[in-house]
Amino acid sequence: MSDLVKVTVDGVEVEVPKGTLLVEAARKVQQEIPVYCYHHKLGPAGLCRVCLVEIEGMPKLQIACNTQVADGMVVHTRSVKASKGRAMVVELLLVPHPLDCPICDKGGECDLQDYAMAYGRGVSDLADPKLRKPKAVDLGPTIVLDEERCIVCQRCVRFDDIIVRDKQLVVKDRGHRDIIATATGAPYRHYFTGNVTELCPVGALTSKTYRFKSRPWDLNRTETSCTQCAVGCRQMVDVRYGNVVRTMTVAEDDAISDGWLCDRGRYNFGFYRSGDRLVQPLYKSGGRFVQVTWEDAFDLWASALREAANAPSSVGAIGGGRLTNEEAYVLQYLFRAFGTQNLDWRAGRQRQATPGAHSGTIAEMERAQAIVIAGGDPGELAPVFDLRIRKAVFRNGARVIHANDADAAMRELGDGVERVALVWDGVDLDLGRALHERLNGIPNLRTYIVSEQPNARGAEAMGMLPCDGGKDTFGMFADAREGGIASLALLGVNPVRNAPDGGAAAQALGRAGFVVVSELFMTETAELGTLVLPAKAAYEKSGTTTNLAGDLLPLKAALAAPEGPLADLEILIGLSLALGIELPTAEEVETAVAQRARQTEDFNFGDVRFAPGYGGHTLSPKTLFDGGGTCAHDPNVAALRQTAEVHA
Ligand code: SF4
Ligand code: SF4
Ligand code: FES
Repeated sequence: MSDLVKVTVDGVEVEVPKGTLLVEAARKVQQEIPVYCYHHKLGPAGLCRVCLVEIEGMPKLQIACNTQVADGMVVHTRSVKASKGRAMVVELLLVPHPLDCPICDKGGECDLQDYAMAYGRGVSDLADPKLRKPKAVDLGPTIVLDEERCIVCQRCVRFDDIIVRDKQLVVKDRGHRDIIATATGAPYRHYFTGNVTELCPVGALTSKTYRFKSRPWDLNRTETSCTQCAVGCRQMVDVRYGNVVRTMTVAEDDAISDGWLCDRGRYNFGFYRSGDRLVQPLYKSGGRFVQVTWEDAFDLWASALREAANAPSSVGAIGGGRLTNEEAYVLQYLFRAFGTQNLDWRAGRQRQATPGAHSGTIAEMERAQAIVIAGGDPGELAPVFDLRIRKAVFRNGARVIHANDADAAMRELGDGVERVALVWDGVDLDLGRALHERLNGIPNLRTYIVSEQPNARGAEAMGMLPCDGGKDTFGMFADAREGGIASLALLGVNPVRNAPDGGAAAQALGRAGFVVVSELFMTETAELGTLVLPAKAAYEKSGTTTNLAGDLLPLKAALAAPEGPLADLEILIGLSLALGIELPTAEEVETAVAQRARQTEDFNFGDVRFAPGYGGHTLSPKTLFDGGGTCAHDPNVAALRQTAEVHA
């Protein structure tokens, strides 16, 4: 018996797998059936009835969102009967609705507006005054609820239940008094709250950061990738008058984000216009920073390097995990051309970012039968990836094993498990190596390293690791403390804050010769620099990054930078010109990046060099809105720092 069935929608025949919902079958032949409560990631709820259709042989109208197709089914979505039924549903939904479209943030992209236009009667028989409800209910640090606009489709409630597995939002009261609220009355707070503003088909749930900021048709939209963590969710960045006013999901991004964003990725854009941003190169003279031109900055840096040319091993560079692939590639190319192998992307606790031959895709995580988690919490390091883990566990029955010890983890795993995912934070090398060796024989092992820097895997692939006798970060710091480092460049890293021993890093930088730091803000590390260079941030530049699964992701500039900062690539080009070192062309860089990104499967698990005696520690439990970096300068996420919680 065939697993396909034929169904005819508005005269168009379509063949779909048995069990397909009618609403999805209609989409295949571009016949739109309106929906409110249905959403393809949440499934049917059968609450709103706007999806009524006429099916031949059935006396009553049926809801398309919860009807499975049957072979030979003939469906009419626009017959007189179906249209009348739908018009009645729209009219009923509009009875309590305030119709404040002129001041509603959803105006112009609201399903209620659109369906009222497309399917409504255009008149109302309502004579009584409308029901009044609270208009601006503060639901929590990120979201405002307009109770009058809610059509109680329960998408938000089901998102919390089915996707986040949190169940904070509920429907309270009954009948015309029903409202959305948190079950306990506590503020609505988890790492994914912003998604409900996109799921809400009307203007009931809005983001505090976007309220009354713009109409959708006044926005300049750019599709790019989020660089706030190593997942790299696809993301829309909406700009008005030169400011980011909101970011949105890319609904079709099934491979990486699954159509979601976390609140860090969604809301951490307030720092772009922070008054604290560095905008002018700063040179330390007599213990104080003075402003210099870019030309002077490159000359000063090149002179310091020329003075060290006879001893290139006294020169080093650290960075890449917060740069693009292209920048990381050019960084190592330039410093290798100068003659040093002292190169490293690592400036925090993490020691390895590339999992090697068993590297899994993000979507494959869903199919794991058991998930072994070693080290830091993936919910803090890679939130949207953590949603895949929740999907594997709660929908597909995967087991989670927290591993501090490889033998104990193997005992807990038992025999006969074929699909295992290892999720490690790349910090404790001995544990990571032991787990990998023990799990290696499992037919479908997939490994993931949840990095503390977004492009850590890219930096590793681009060659920002020491070789041929070069020193790693902590080797360079040890040399610096002995007076053996004449010049050190740190691009987008803050070891004084993030290294396990920040005091030792500070001491090393204090004793190093000419220290160059490229940064967005005056960080703890920048304070110790000789030369501090203002850098562009992610939405201000183009290129690629590599996420934790090895996907090469495009970055597209969405926003003009303030006057002054340069992209790290432009900074490296400026230095190469001052030094007289020729860099590869843009095409050559592009080819090299693509080749190196493909080669990451050859990386040997655990085959990383690191200074002896360096003790890695697991990341602290709550790190997503860590007070450092961009979050520290972002009013959008101020209320989310420290107090943020994940309810699993
Ligand atoms: S707030 Fe929005 S998503 Fe939630 S039930 Fe109301 S209309 Fe639906
Ligand atoms: S999970 Fe990471 S990449 Fe995705 S939205 Fe959040 S911070 Fe951005
Ligand atoms: S979309 Fe079908 S009942 Fe709501």
